[in-house]
Amino acid sequence: MTSFLFVTDLDHTLVGDDRALAILNQILEEHRQQNGTKIVYSTGRSLYLYQQLTTEKSLLSPDALITSVGTEIYFNPTEARRDREWSEVLSDGWNRKKILDIANNYSELTPQPESEQNSFKVSYYLSESAANEVLSNLESELTSQDLDIKLVYSGSKDLDILPRNGDKGLALQFLRNKWEISPEKTVACGDSGNDIALFKGEEKGIIVGNAKPELRQWYLQNQNLTLYLAQAHCAGGILEGLKHFEFVN
Ligand code: GLC
Ligand code: MG
Repeated sequence: MTSFLFVTDLDHTLVGDDRALAILNQILEEHRQQNGTKIVYSTGRSLYLYQQLTTEKSLLSPDALITSVGTEIYFNPTEARRDREWSEVLSDGWNRKKILDIANNYSELTPQPESEQNSFKVSYYLSESAANEVLSNLESELTSQDLDIKLVYSGSKDLDILPRNGDKGLALQFLRNKWEISPEKTVACGDSGNDIALFKGEEKGIIVGNAKPELRQWYLQNQNLTLYLAQAHCAGGILEGLKHFEFVN
């Protein structure tokens, strides 16, 4: 077996089935020790909420951690020092204050807690019933003000406003380039809207069997041989996909 770059979302992807997680953890840790496989977590959570999760679930320590929907990268999460180079990439064309001035006028948007806001991420709760209209109005208003943003709606409730240069997929590309790992030797796993960016490149992708409607719908319109929709849920679905792509036996 050869090494690969393993990137996974946490909530409802890696985490959600403790027994399957224990099995997958063992396989991945062995692969890392024997072949130098790299393990990366890519989560919507802030570092603060990630650290909370590590006290609740048994997670391997990652080789890198991407938090806050791709807006922060940590090579050593316990040191809490985010990668400066990545912040610089994100700052291009980003104007947080201007975004807030516009978005805060929408009564359908409820700000998420302070811990989930950062220099390059503005996050709200938005109900599914209001989503279509608000997303299209907000996007056209922000872009008409020359704001280089992208809107990411996940799980029928979370709205993240991100810089043009930042999302989970672009953060993955950044790491892949840094470590010089080819797309064929890279696999990303996810379950919801903010993971779609992980599946847009040439890397292989595993969509777990419990994926949310927004990701399933995207998959139906974008099926290709580098994407695998698993039957099994959470870590069980990841393992199924890793076998499908022959990353593990
Ligand atoms: C996590 C984050 C939240 C974000 C959501 C979807 O729950 O805490 O800020 O909106 O993921 O990306
Ligand atoms: Mg998830």
